[in-house]
Amino acid sequence: MQGIIFTALSDMVIEKLGMAVWDQLLDDANLPSQGAYTSGGRYDDSELLALVGLLSERSGIAAPDLVRSFGEYLFAKLYASLPPSLQHCSDLRQFLLVIDNTIHKEVKRVYPDSYLPSFSYDDSDANQLTMHYRSKRKLCFAAEGLIAGAAKQFGETVQISHPVCMHQGADHCCLIVHFKAQPHE
Ligand code: HEM
Repeated sequence: MQGIIFTALSDMVIEKLGMAVWDQLLDDANLPSQGAYTSGGRYDDSELLALVGLLSERSGIAAPDLVRSFGEYLFAKLYASLPPSLQHCSDLRQFLLVIDNTIHKEVKRVYPDSYLPSFSYDDSDANQLTMHYRSKRKLCFAAEGLIAGAAKQFGETVQISHPVCMHQGADHCCLIVHFKAQPHE
């Protein structure tokens, strides 16, 4: 997985819990990289899972909740890394619709060895958008958090439901983004 994911996790833990907690976590996890993450590097997915597992154990916060919060935090870092030409969307719906075939496609072009999830969409309802998420990594809770982070970025209020989930045996996840009427509408 791309280093930016790991540097964002380290930033979040240090910001919210302090450097001592992050250092202790790395000592206890005893990972191949020793936690020397750089945003341009690549690290094994298992390191992320190990860190989240330990953090969940220590904090008593369930892993899906931690991963969701991390997704929300991560969004701002990913968005800031986009070239200005990809920051042109004016609302959340439009933005979510270009994740698969524009934004993640560009990531894959720049980092050919990256592995990106796939999203397909049901865009037929003006009040909601269904995103079908597929990935061997099953990071659907991160996807929920990323969507929440994107909503914040665009100043919109949404509810996200997740009625079909790979963690419950389905072959993909359905994430339904319910758009609330914005105050000016
Ligand atoms: C709401 C918006 C977004 C959603 C729902 C989303 C979803 C995801 C998810 C769930 C992953 C984890 C990997 C997996 O599931 O297989 C991921 C990875 C990634 N995404 Fe996105 N993403 C969003 C926006 C962005 C943006 C704005 C960027 C900007 C560059 C970005 C770049 C990346 C990168 C670099 C990875 C890691 C790929 C790898 O490690 O190989 N994403 N995305």
